[in-house]
Amino acid sequence: MEQTNLSMRIARAPEGLPRREDFVLVEEPMPVPGEGEVLFRAIYMSLDPSMRRKLPGPEGAPVPLGGTQSVGDLMIAGVPPPARGYMGGFVGQVVESRHSGFAQGDLVQGGCWWQHYQAVPGDCLVKLPLETKASEALGLLGQHGFVAWCGMRNIGKAKPGETVVVSAAGGAIGMIAGQLAKADGARVIGIASGENSRFVVEELGFDACIDRHAEDVAQRLDRLCPDGIDVYFDNVGGDVMLAAYDRMADFGRIVVCGMASEYNAPELPFGASLRPVLRKRLRIEGFVVYDHYEDQFEQFQQELRALSASGRMKYRIEVIDGFENAPDALARLLEGRNKGKMIVQLGPDPTG
Ligand SMILES: NC(=O)c1ccc[n+]([C@@H]2O[C@H](COP(=O)([O-])OP(=O)(O)OC[C@H]3O[C@@H](n4cnc5c(N)ncnc54)[C@H](OP(=O)(O)O)[C@@H]3O)[C@@H](O)[C@H]2O)c1
Repeated sequence: MEQTNLSMRIARAPEGLPRREDFVLVEEPMPVPGEGEVLFRAIYMSLDPSMRRKLPGPEGAPVPLGGTQSVGDLMIAGVPPPARGYMGGFVGQVVESRHSGFAQGDLVQGGCWWQHYQAVPGDCLVKLPLETKASEALGLLGQHGFVAWCGMRNIGKAKPGETVVVSAAGGAIGMIAGQLAKADGARVIGIASGENSRFVVEELGFDACIDRHAEDVAQRLDRLCPDGIDVYFDNVGGDVMLAAYDRMADFGRIVVCGMASEYNAPELPFGASLRPVLRKRLRIEGFVVYDHYEDQFEQFQQELRALSASGRMKYRIEVIDGFENAPDALARLLEGRNKGKMIVQLGPDPTG
């Protein structure tokens, strides 16, 4: 085992897209687990668009360019303890345990600091079953799958024959949200960019996908959804959300999952009029997955495992090698140049 702990700290407030120079890699002392804690070595780390929103802004920067973190802080992935393990940003292998529920060599999920080694209360870790592929725990069967499932099952509730539109359709959450709606018998239209637009139609079976860079999203929605949109699963906010909002069918549901278009923007966009909400009896509901869905986690995993085994749920992961490449990868993710769920590999994966 190494004597020091490679860690990534924030070196300065990024201007626009985050760059490599905004971060610094440092060797720090190896954490020592206290009573009830577990020391694990990271295998994979999740990269998420909302990391941008947490970064510090330049002095006096307007919201949303001023996040919750400061220069000098350790970067954060996932939700810090005491959040449950599946909300953590890492999959790792136990090196030393001072918690009766874990032993050396166990595969675990949890933790939140951009570090190779973390000591975390065992109660805030999940032990992954032996058959789990480490990379799946951060995507299909972990937080991102659960977000898509919660949004679709609790709010979207697509019915056979309905028209469902999903933005960031080729992304970590959008891929699953769209395929869940397909499995429910809905007609599913994606909105994505570049290669992701081809991917969701040809590989995932979406009925169509609008390339937001190459096409006029509003005009294409008019053509593809002549009777309006029954469910819009919103991962991005901004202009794409407004185009979908204007085309909702009566009794439509908008699942407000995320605002990826705003995390790197210098100011918040103008809001839309709420008049259509009343006129069309729309339901618009935001949700944050760690609020009140924990008791549905098993049901979610069962359904996704079954869909995956039957070939009706596909998922792609882009693996980035090492912390030093994570900032550039985060910038690519924010620009929509990711190929599926992005994870960073920090150590050897015993699950292959
Ligand atoms: N509610 C919750 O509990 C919860 C939990 C976790 C994450 N989230 C949110 O869920 C959303 C999706 O997360 P994810 O991890 O699956 O990310 P992702 O979809 O893999 O990546 C974000 C995608 O957003 C799209 N995008 C970026 N800038 C855009 C812009 N200006 N206009 C339109 N689209 C843009 C890009 O896709 P294209 O270029 O292909 O369009 C990009 O690939 C995020 O907003 C995230 O913050 C919510």
